[in-house]
This record gives sequence, C-alpha cells and structure tokens, in this order.
Amino acid sequence: MRLLMLGAPGSGKGTQARRLGEHFGVAHLSTGEMLRAEIKAATPLGLEVQGFVAAGDLVPDEIVERLIHDRVIDASRRGGYVLDGFPRTIHQAVAAYDIAKEADATVHAVVHLHVPEEELLGRLLGRGEDRLDDDAQTIRHRLEVYHERTEPLIEYYHGRGVLLTIDGGPPVDEVFTTILDRLTAYAPSD
Ligand code: AP5
Repeated sequence: MRLLMLGAPGSGKGTQARRLGEHFGVAHLSTGEMLRAEIKAATPLGLEVQGFVAAGDLVPDEIVERLIHDRVIDASRRGGYVLDGFPRTIHQAVAAYDIAKEADATVHAVVHLHVPEEELLGRLLGRGEDRLDDDAQTIRHRLEVYHERTEPLIEYYHGRGVLLTIDGGPPVDEVFTTILDRLTAYAPSD
C-alpha cells in the first residue's frame, strides 16, 4: 500500500500515518521527524534547516526532496509507504510523482484529514511535546503557511482522482476506522 497524508498541522497526520504503516506493514516516512532528528543531531543538514523549522516556515523543496528520495525508493521495494508531511508544495508533489515513478510505485490514495481550525490550535497547544515550533505564534504561522503553500494540493490530487477527504475531528480510533473503510471502498491496491 502506498499512501500520502495531507492535512493542516495538528490534523492527525502523524498519529494516523503511524497506525496505517503498522496496519499495512509498510514504512511510515515523516519528513518532520527526519528534519527534527537532523536538528537534534546537529548535522550539517540539521543546522541548515533549523531556522526554517523553528520559525514554522517550509524547508526549501530541494532539501526535503533530497532527504526523502532514497527512503521512498527503498520503502517502495519493501511493500510500500505512508508519506506524512510530504509533499507540501506543488513542486514537491511533482517530485513525489517522479520519485514514485522511478520506483514503479505510484501512490494509491491521498488521505486528506479535515479538522476545524479551533480544534487544530487546541490540539497543538495541548500536545506537551518538546517541539520548537509549538508556541501559539508559530502555530498560527504554520497554519498560514499550510493554507498558502499546501492547501492547493487538495485540488491537485482531487483532479487526479486519488483524494479521500476524511473528517479528522472524531477520536483517533474512529478516524482510523473511517480511513480503513474508505480505503477498502476505494481499494486500489497491488
Ligand atoms: P511536521 O512534523 O510535518 O508538522 P506538522 O505538519 O505541522 O504536523 P504536526 O506534527 O504538528 O501535526 P500532525 O498533523 O502530524 O498531527 P499529530 O498526529 O502530530 O513538520 C514540522 C516542520 O518541519 C514544518 O513546519 C516545516 O518547517 C518542516 N517540514 C516538514 N516537512 C516538510 C516538507 N515536506 N517541506 C518543507 N518543510 C517541511 O497530532 C497532533 C496532536 O493532536 C497530538 O497531540 C495528537 O495526539 C493529537 N491528536 C491527533 N489526532 C487526534 C484526534 N483524532 N482527536 C484528538 N486529538 C488528536
């Protein structure tokens, strides 16, 4: 199974992607987690991207595309992937398609989690993890960046007939069951 998760910060992409990865026995690939690991280890890449992540801005496309390339190819050979937090721009969506094509493993479905904005703010402020981008001001900026740079992907994938929009508001287990039901009804797997 090969899935992309799409949704605003706090919509539950990471939570659901982890569970979907386990359910289908495929890799959960989160660009946010990869970037945070690089920052924590103070690698040259981590130092390069730290300012963008801390400010709630997107890391330049080329950096993220390089970071994810080999992992997607590798995961494709081992049964598939759930991509979480990538692509986030039209440029990245084109790159994602090129990478998947290179591996002869294009995406089955794009799971778009829709959650009202007040709920997103509450979730992120209440998360209590040590994340450098979870203060109120940066969260608001991340939401603006989402609307401006990432939301156009909803139309982009809708136009390609692979978009499944799911209400991400209910409890985690309920959202997960809904995603599985919708994927079963849609059922394009190989
Ligand atoms: P990233 O780590 O991807 O952060 P994000 O998109 O802002 O998403 P979050 O992790 O905050 O939320 P989520 O939707 O995964 O929700 P979660 O499951 O955690 O990216 C961070 C930064 O890295 C970016 O700002 C950017 O700088 C950079 N970056 C990453 N990818 C990039 C890319 N491709 N290009 C450029 N830059 C990139 O849940 C949130 C909270 O809600 C949790 O506490 C959870 O327990 C709770 N929750 C989840 N589901 C529910 C539910 N159904 N009901 C109640 N609570 C819930």
